Amino acid sequence: MKITELGYVVIGTPDLEKWRNYGTKVLGMSAVDGPDGTLYLKMDARDFRFLIQKTGKDELFASGWSVSDEQSFDEVRADLEAANIEVKSGSDAGRKLRKVQAFFSFIDPAGLRHEVSWGPIAAFTKFVSPIGTKFVTDNLGLGHAVLPTGDIDATVSFWTNVMGFGVSDLLHLTLAEGVPPIRVYFLHCAAGRQHSLAFAELTDPTGCNHLMVEVDSVDEVGRALDRVDENGVKLTLTLGRHVNDDMISFYMMTPGGFQMEFGTGGSVKDWSNYNVFESTRGSHWGHKFLGVG
Ligand SMILES: [Fe+2]
Repeated sequence: MKITELGYVVIGTPDLEKWRNYGTKVLGMSAVDGPDGTLYLKMDARDFRFLIQKTGKDELFASGWSVSDEQSFDEVRADLEAANIEVKSGSDAGRKLRKVQAFFSFIDPAGLRHEVSWGPIAAFTKFVSPIGTKFVTDNLGLGHAVLPTGDIDATVSFWTNVMGFGVSDLLHLTLAEGVPPIRVYFLHCAAGRQHSLAFAELTDPTGCNHLMVEVDSVDEVGRALDRVDENGVKLTLTLGRHVNDDMISFYMMTPGGFQMEFGTGGSVKDWSNYNVFESTRGSHWGHKFLGVG
């Protein structure tokens, strides 16, 4: 697996200030102004993990995947071109904005934009949260992204056969009584996170169902639940524990119109000794859906 982790995300929005407020007061990240009216949210020693830029609508603009070195970068690019996927080289301004040696972008069969980069550039200063939050990233990446697709077979085939991801598990999720269940495929890259990427048979105008960030204790999850309440943020799924990655988490609506899962205790896997499975429910307990409106 050449992709090592979900290194960063690029979020588009007409209103950066709502992300500054949410990122610092609810998530507990630190906000740093970037060039040309952009905003970085920092959650670990990297200079940023969330890049917020002004676009015409609220959206997940791109998921940023990391590789370990330039050789892997060239190999992933060659794999994409061999599969007749159009690859666009990142501009110098874009490279500086993302603080990487180089990056390129492409559109996957779900119609979503992704970027691949190598060599993050950072001061690697210690992260000091404005409200005491400690995130779990290390070499696991920033968390995970669960994305919508209208063609899950083609999408999963692309991510496994061309991008080299592995399937972690499969879930048939019943969203409502009497409605056929949707399929969700959970995928992993080299990082030990049980899934760094998942695709669900959903539609979403933001290009994202949810992102996930992880903190170091259940108390931090509880404190975040208090902040959700205090800041009038919409809780979308109650506290619960997932079957596949064992994470204790809740979900909330972000200012971007997609959800954020905020959790702790995600399991770390050894991919040389792992069996793919299908679970018949998403959670051991909790995660009651409260609606997104
Ligand atoms: Fe999740």
